[in-house]
Amino acid sequence: MFRTHTCGELKIENINTLVTLAGWVQTVRKFGAITFVDLRDRYGITQLLFGENLNTQLNAQPLGREFVIRVKGKVSERSNKNKNIPTGDIEILVDEFTILNKSAVPPFTIQDDTDGGDDLRMKYRYLDLRRNAVKRNLELRYAVNRSARNYLHENGFYDIETPFLIKSTPEGARDFVVPSRMNQGEFYALPQSPQTFKQLLMVSGYDRYYQIVKCFRDEDLRADRQPEFTQIDCEMSFVEQDDIINMFEGLVRRIFKDVKSIEYNETVERITWEDAMWNYGNDKPDIRFGMKINNLKFPLYTFPAKTGYLKNSPLENETGFKVFDDAETVLAICVSNAADYSRKQTDELIEWVKRPQIGMAGLAFVKMNKDGTVKSSFDKFFNEDQLKNLAGFCNAEKGDLILILAGREERTRKAMSELRLEMAKRLGLRKDDEFKLLWVLDFPLFEYDEESNRWVARHHPFTSPKPSDINVMINNDPVIKNAEKYLEHPYANIKANAYDIVLNGNEIGGGSIRIYQKELQEKMFAALGMSKEEAQHKFGFLLGAFEYGAPPHGGIAFGFDRLCAILGGSESIRDFIAFPKNNSGRDVMLDAPSTIDEKQLDELSIKLNLK
Ligand code: AMO
Repeated sequence: MFRTHTCGELKIENINTLVTLAGWVQTVRKFGAITFVDLRDRYGITQLLFGENLNTQLNAQPLGREFVIRVKGKVSERSNKNKNIPTGDIEILVDEFTILNKSAVPPFTIQDDTDGGDDLRMKYRYLDLRRNAVKRNLELRYAVNRSARNYLHENGFYDIETPFLIKSTPEGARDFVVPSRMNQGEFYALPQSPQTFKQLLMVSGYDRYYQIVKCFRDEDLRADRQPEFTQIDCEMSFVEQDDIINMFEGLVRRIFKDVKSIEYNETVERITWEDAMWNYGNDKPDIRFGMKINNLKFPLYTFPAKTGYLKNSPLENETGFKVFDDAETVLAICVSNAADYSRKQTDELIEWVKRPQIGMAGLAFVKMNKDGTVKSSFDKFFNEDQLKNLAGFCNAEKGDLILILAGREERTRKAMSELRLEMAKRLGLRKDDEFKLLWVLDFPLFEYDEESNRWVARHHPFTSPKPSDINVMINNDPVIKNAEKYLEHPYANIKANAYDIVLNGNEIGGGSIRIYQKELQEKMFAALGMSKEEAQHKFGFLLGAFEYGAPPHGGIAFGFDRLCAILGGSESIRDFIAFPKNNSGRDVMLDAPSTIDEKQLDELSIKLNLK
């Protein structure tokens, strides 16, 4: 046997056992004639003690960091125990050792607290992967993978692979394309998701499909986006929205249990997209804390149903304070127990909202002091009664700090959503070890695209409208005659039979009930501005399949990397991917993308025309 044990398993009960270990040298510490070495492998670290008898050999063959060695020796109780590691009670009294391979001095220390910067660690990712922190992330990823597979298998899902070299699947991003040598001048696209394939599998009768699958999207990258990422992609036939929600809520509950030992038994709240925007300013709200938005003023086109609300607002009539009077939208949040914020702290918040990423002109505030007095940043324009009235509207209590943003609807709502998250972060309300799931339902089916004056699919073009809106879609002409009044077009109010699942303010999955009738699908393509010929050229295969008995179906895809990152308490999905790309989409280890040689280009009949 090459080794009898791993570096993570020897304990006090193994004392006096003769063992053989193999691994990497993490540290070498010399004390006179004896040398201590921490030996590391995937399972842990074991301390080795090289006695005086090995000194000559050690001098002739000195050990360095990251050398790969094999040692034989006896397990012995340590006098100086290390309670922080599972093997901390013992050490190995080494009888003989062999250097299996030397190592160059690593460019950074391979320890939990490494001295390596991001770029360096990415360049030497294979060394970074030796670190515990990264290893734990990959372990968690594998645990999530296993848990999902078990659950889906137990529920009758088949794992079916779908091709990577395909024709473009529109999911809102750009495609990565691959030139074809055998079909000169033609290109494959890498799938943005297996969307159309899983639908075709439903037409073929495989009524429960899943795949843990790579997806490729050429889009701007962020901490939670990679150009190639993984989805837990699922589809079911003969289902309605509730069937999908129940099945996949079950999946997440199972993952919580298997991976985090959390029994997530509480009911998962479901809110409409409109309520999410109204109360939280975004469609993936973090509901680990309240701090809902108070809508003091807003244009009615955004929330037509809230007319009455506006009538009760303290800002219904002119106040004399231009910032509020001239604004389209005025929103407020109450921050509990923050009325004692100092001038410096409020100034700092003002600077925060003025940052280009937030883009507001300023921030107004009202302090509801503990002694019952009220103080605001616009005392010149509001008397105490008016302030108290405003505070009452916002349900503020003594000790609260009310933060108010005013401006254009879209920007202000977005900024308030960010400010709400920022305040919660500052108050420690966004705890990594607390998990709150949420379903967001009833998204608009279409979004208006100003540039082309037409509708685009908010989710993707295969998403069905809510059953009650199908006729609105069929019976109306999608063409927008008056761009300024696009909100009055019947299509603006059509709701999608779609759902997103949100965990701690992150969209971890999304899906929909699909269109399965050829006519409705054709209408959808037409609504998106596609001619009949274009629809046929791009999606003839799907429209064709719909002629042969397509069952009602729907599905969902989870962002696997995102789910892992959140379960691991991180915002960055990169840490949970073995070989990720950096923010410019580069693999700095491989140095990819890279140029290819003339011969390869020639074979593909490609001439570069670099600008
Ligand atoms: P969608 O585009 O919403 O739906 O993607 C599903 C989930 O995948 C994750 N995700 C990403 N993760 C990392 N990097 C990215 N660039 C990235 N883009 C998306 C998100 C998202 O919720 N075919 C449909 C699913 C369906 O309708 O069944 C789809 O792909 O967590």
